[in-house]
Amino acid sequence: MRKYARAIPQGARDLLFEECDDKKKIETALSALYKERGYRKVITPAIEYLDVFDADAGLESDIMYKLTDDYGRTTVLRPDNTMPIARLVASRLSSADFPVRLYYDQNVFIRNKAYAGRTDEVTQSGIELIGDSSAEADIEALTMAVEALRRTQLSSFSLEIGHAGFFKAILDDMDIDQRQKAEICSLTESKNFAALSDVLDDIGSTAQTRALRLLPRLFGGVEVLDAAKELYSSPASDSALEYLRDIYTRLTAGGCKDVMLDLGLVNRTNYYTGIIFRGYARGSGVSVLSGGRYDNLISHFGLDAPAVGFAVDVNALYDVMHDAINAERPLRIALTKGRLEKSSVKLFQKMGLDTSQLENKGRRLILPVDGYEAVLSKAPDVITYVEHGVCDIGIVGKDTIVEHGSSFYEVMDLNIGKCRFALACPADVDFFSGHSRKRVASKYPRVAKEYFSSRGMDVDVIKIEGSVELAPLLGLADGIVDIVETGSTLKENGLEIKEEIMPISARVIVNMASMKLRKREIEAFLADLELASKV
Ligand code: PRP
Repeated sequence: MRKYARAIPQGARDLLFEECDDKKKIETALSALYKERGYRKVITPAIEYLDVFDADAGLESDIMYKLTDDYGRTTVLRPDNTMPIARLVASRLSSADFPVRLYYDQNVFIRNKAYAGRTDEVTQSGIELIGDSSAEADIEALTMAVEALRRTQLSSFSLEIGHAGFFKAILDDMDIDQRQKAEICSLTESKNFAALSDVLDDIGSTAQTRALRLLPRLFGGVEVLDAAKELYSSPASDSALEYLRDIYTRLTAGGCKDVMLDLGLVNRTNYYTGIIFRGYARGSGVSVLSGGRYDNLISHFGLDAPAVGFAVDVNALYDVMHDAINAERPLRIALTKGRLEKSSVKLFQKMGLDTSQLENKGRRLILPVDGYEAVLSKAPDVITYVEHGVCDIGIVGKDTIVEHGSSFYEVMDLNIGKCRFALACPADVDFFSGHSRKRVASKYPRVAKEYFSSRGMDVDVIKIEGSVELAPLLGLADGIVDIVETGSTLKENGLEIKEEIMPISARVIVNMASMKLRKREIEAFLADLELASKV
């Protein structure tokens, strides 16, 4: 028998018996809703040409499963449902009577990081309302999104609504280049206050930078809109806020209680042009629904048609049904074991928390700290636990975030655990001279690779698990990329810094769903922590 004949690839999953029934239940409930509201089903092929998926819309081709057809053209397993439907509407339904209401229930295929505990094949059930640019169309999509979550029997959920126009209005009024705009966008989206603040400091104090600084904090009820208007007002930004107010008022008047506003929900790409929304469910650490208005997408396929739509992540809902991970429990905070642990405990003490259990932990890994639960783990695992939502908050070094992190909010720089990334090698070696290909050892291969790429250097990076200083001493590498705190390990081993790469300190990260579903508790904890970190 061949080696992998009885296995399935990473990221794939078999479902058996009642598992199939449970998944089907969710899909049936959603399809019934869509049909009731006059939506008609479409199925697009699992295999499409790569050209259908525009990188400008945020789909990098390296996350796609690629194949080739008989003529050598690149095809992919569809990584998204909206673009194939846009293609289908522009080609097959161009002379239909608009608006057209479509729904789908089919899989998308995305390559996730290996061993990240994510499924690469995800069932999405969603709608597209095409050919209607009115507020009524947005209300229809949002009401259906709320109803979709309600019908799937979630104990508690929240739909967050933002508007691409508000953020865009501010950016359009700034004299900065596209790269800076993209950076501000991504830092706002990830609520990375510390890094955003640095970028905005470099630009200087203007009405726009003052507004952008506070934007990631603007989520909650209708009061968020007043706060936003006070922060920034221009014809374009006012009109986006007024639009959101109208939509929000109409939704809540219509009985939708589970909606919130989030002006930090921004558009990383040019995909969304109006409202943007995301659904979070208690029991899931990831968003279970996402959608928005995309008035320019279908024109890329040759038909000018505005549209709004959303997709429900059926797999995420299925997981909530089976193993709700953040149901009823105290707020859970993951701490990095070792050096950072001591400074974190000190911060807790400054917050007035009773840390006696943490101080006398023995070999226990989960410990009560007043009303909270502290979890002790290795740095990369802090990120894994927070990304999956089994811990709500994490305290971890920026080094680990840069190397391992992707989807969480990075909300605070604690200014503890300060050190830096540096390139080091034996004192008598001129690392940058000569033409031979260099070898570099590191516990942080991603950081090392990116650093050398940014310098236009092609090096061999060798992953080492610890005491990286050994690699050049034993002749395995020419140099190392590592964290340096006091510099004594380098010195005692005859190595010296050739270039500093970036400063590092401990950061506070928050799971995206927890931030929405446990907003009050998390904000109170963060406020106390921030105060303690400044004492
Ligand atoms: C880190 C780092 C260096 C050392 C630097 O290792 O990888 O080896 O600390 O600190 P210094 O500048 O104060 O001497 P760590 O102690 O985390 O152990 P490890 O290499 O075994 O992972």
